[in-house]
Parts: sequence; structure tokens; C-alpha cells
Amino acid sequence: MARLIEGRAIAEKVYLDLRQEIAEMKSKSVTPGLAVVLVGDNPASRAYVRSKDKMCRDLGLHSVKLELPSSTTQMELLVRVEELNRDPTIHGILVQSPPPKQIDEAAIVRALDPRKDVDGFHPENVAKLVIGDPSGFVPCTPLGIQCLLIESKIDISGAHVVILGRSMIVGKPLALLLMQKNKDANATVTVVHSQSGDLEKITRSADIVIAAIGQPNFVKAEHVRDGAVVIDVGINRVEDAASERGYRLVGDVAFHEVSKKASAITPVPGGVGPMTIAMLMSNTVKACRQSL
Ligand code: GUN
Repeated sequence: MARLIEGRAIAEKVYLDLRQEIAEMKSKSVTPGLAVVLVGDNPASRAYVRSKDKMCRDLGLHSVKLELPSSTTQMELLVRVEELNRDPTIHGILVQSPPPKQIDEAAIVRALDPRKDVDGFHPENVAKLVIGDPSGFVPCTPLGIQCLLIESKIDISGAHVVILGRSMIVGKPLALLLMQKNKDANATVTVVHSQSGDLEKITRSADIVIAAIGQPNFVKAEHVRDGAVVIDVGINRVEDAASERGYRLVGDVAFHEVSKKASAITPVPGGVGPMTIAMLMSNTVKACRQSL
């Protein structure tokens, strides 16, 4: 039976350090500020935005939650982004993805001041990740996964890491992060996706399997070798009449069967999710520190 990697407990450790740095900043009359912009009323996005706002308040950060109607135009959103770029009380800006279809998301990301791009989606920050320039911002979920592995004393250096999924939010930046030339990375990384052949052969050769494809229970026992480490990034809502919300959250990994084979595994919820928010807070504090 696999050891459970407790994201909530590891996130608490991150908050302990952050609280100390925030207190030091506040003693110099500086308060890190985060603006979260939500366009439309996607229920999952609303839930994420609420938890980000709540965490900011809990840490004593300045938090601005901007909720715009689903009819918002590209121009209106660009104007709001420009205002936040100029606002000296705001150090980090996050525009919740995915926006409604009339919004050109890439153009919005390019309009962000890269120094406030705590999501790490701006081309300047993507370039810094490729180069290995530590002044850039790395997307929160990849950063959270690296932190989970380090804090769980799982060797990344020299390990074969197989990532399922090539998204700009998780798969691609995670591959770049874990292949960097430093002691907290140095992995041999393989990225597989919907067009990869013989998936099972590749995933079975992994020391660490990371699933980020958004398909409930996709990774089965036959995909992993005995003793592999399994990180589940998926947060999928599946209908569940027995639950009072009418749904429950399941990962991309068939937890019940895979946990019998793995040496360590993250649960859903309570694994990667809490780390993503912790890294958003950490990136916001970093943005503030770098602005001083
Ligand atoms: N939607 C899902 N994950 C994320 C994220 O990390 N950042 C933003 N902006 N939107 C998301």
C-alpha cells in the first residue's frame, strides 16, 4: 500500500514560511496584493476564485476579486488588466482560465505586466523558465508538484518522470521545470499525450508518473510499475446523486487500484490542489519582494 502524499500538510509548511515573510514586509508598511479576475460564471472557476480570495485574507494579503459578466468584451477586459498593471497596491494578477469564447486568452496574457504575472503564463516568463532565469514566474501547479516531491523526500534528480498531458498550465511547464539543471530537478522527462502510441509501455518505465489530462480514473494499475510514485493533478467533477452537492471530485488516477502498486501517491482532493494555491500565494509574495 502506497504512502499518502498529504498536500494539505505540506501546504501548511509553505504558509508557515510565507507568514513570516509577510509579517516582515508589513513591518515595513508593505502588503503584497493579488487581483483575481473571473469572467463569467463557470462553477468550478468560481470555487477556485473563492478559495484563492479566502487564502489571501487568511494570510493578511491585500486581495481584490474582480467578477465580470460573461458578456465582457476583449476591450473591456484589456482595460481592467491595464488598470491592475498600473495599480501600485497590486503585485500579482491572475485571470482565471478558461474565459468565455469571445475572449482571446493569449492576447490577455500578453497584456499582463510580466512582473505581475503570478500564473507564469506570459511569454517573458515562459522564456525565463526555458532559460532557467529564477527571476521569472513558474506556473503554480508545476511549482506545487516539485515542492510536494521535494518535501516528501522523493528523488527527482536522475529519475525518469513521465508526464501525461501537454497543457500550457501543467504538462509543458512541468517538463521544463523538472528537466532544469539543478539539484531539485535533473529529471529525465517524457511527455505523453493523446497522440502517443503504446502509452502503457512508456508509463511503466517511469519512476514518477504525473497525470494531468483531465480524464477521470484514466491511469490504471497496468500503467504503473511496482513502487512508482504517482502524482494526480486531475480534479474532475463526476455526478454523484448520493453527495449533497450532486457531484464528487475524482482524479485522473484510479486511486483504489493504483495505490496498491505505487510506493507513494497523492489523493484527490487534498494532494496537488492545496499546493497550487500555496504556490500562488508564494508567487504573489515573490512579485512583491521583487518590486521593492
Ligand atoms: N484554471 C485552472 N488552473 C488555473 C491556473 O493555474 N491559473 C489560471 N489563471 N486559471 C486556471
